[in-house]
Amino acid sequence: MKIAVAGKGGAGKTTICATAARLLARSGHRVVAIDGDTNPNLHTAIGIDPAAALPTLPTSLASQRFDGPRLTASIDEVLQRHAHLAPDGVHLVRMGMPQHADEGCMCSAHAVVSAFLADLDADSEAVTLLDLEASPEHLSRGTARHCDVLLLVAEPYYRSLEAVRLQASLAAETPISRVAVVANKCRQGTDVDAITEFCERHELDLIGLLPWSEAVLGADSATRPLIDFAPQDDMVSALTALVTSLVEEPSAEMVTASRRGTFAERPSRADSSTETGV
Ligand SMILES: Nc1ncnc2c1ncn2[C@@H]1O[C@H](COP(=O)(O)OP(=O)(O)OP(=O)(O)O)[C@@H](O)[C@H]1O
Ligand SMILES: [Mg+2]
Repeated sequence: MKIAVAGKGGAGKTTICATAARLLARSGHRVVAIDGDTNPNLHTAIGIDPAAALPTLPTSLASQRFDGPRLTASIDEVLQRHAHLAPDGVHLVRMGMPQHADEGCMCSAHAVVSAFLADLDADSEAVTLLDLEASPEHLSRGTARHCDVLLLVAEPYYRSLEAVRLQASLAAETPISRVAVVANKCRQGTDVDAITEFCERHELDLIGLLPWSEAVLGADSATRPLIDFAPQDDMVSALTALVTSLVEEPSAEMVTASRRGTFAERPSRADSSTETGV
């Protein structure tokens, strides 16, 4: 399964991608994590030394075909030469990033990621996670078009949800078969109600409610992956439930642990204030 993670800036895409990658590897999946952000930081969140020299995928790896970019080498060769080993056996590959000011657009870097995803086998034991940048450019460039699932991460405020709505409408024009919303940084029942109402109103498939977590901030400050810094944290439990239902029971009704537990005492819709402004 190939899962792309997108959403507005700072919504939690990298945190979710990194933690999900480690969790899935621990549960026995072969995991490839792709840093598809030209301002990359997935390696730090996943547990690779931030100071390590980590070459990116060379643009010469993609050749243009009538049906879009494809790799000029086999997936195995690309992984052998260009992947970096992260904890729990996750393989990390990184999209190219600007090396100099004024060097022009990043189309060819996006094309390599698109080619990599096109050539990757749809093996049920393997999971690929693509951490995207905040701009919707990955949709106009077709970077994630070979993914099976697009997870759109939203924070409980209007502009973040609007960004997700825009990306969902663009994604509907791609071959991606499932587009779903994951709400992150939910602090209270009113956040959950506001997001639920927004998603219902815009016919968005809300599959996860992840809590606000001080441990995520603590992990960032300590430059450590969340899963190592606070393995028992509610955010990790909620993500475990989310990725398990997404990958191992993809057809089951997806109800996250956070929905069952963390927000069990949320107020009724009638009690909700407009405090989140959604
Ligand atoms: N559930 C959470 N609770 C509290 N803070 C969180 C949570 N998830 C993410 N954060 C914090 O939000 C900030 C942004 O997180 P992250 O880098 O994962 O977002 P992003 O969407 O990848 O950002 P960008 O658009 O810059 O790539 C970080 O400081 C992170 O610690
Ligand atoms: Mg990020």
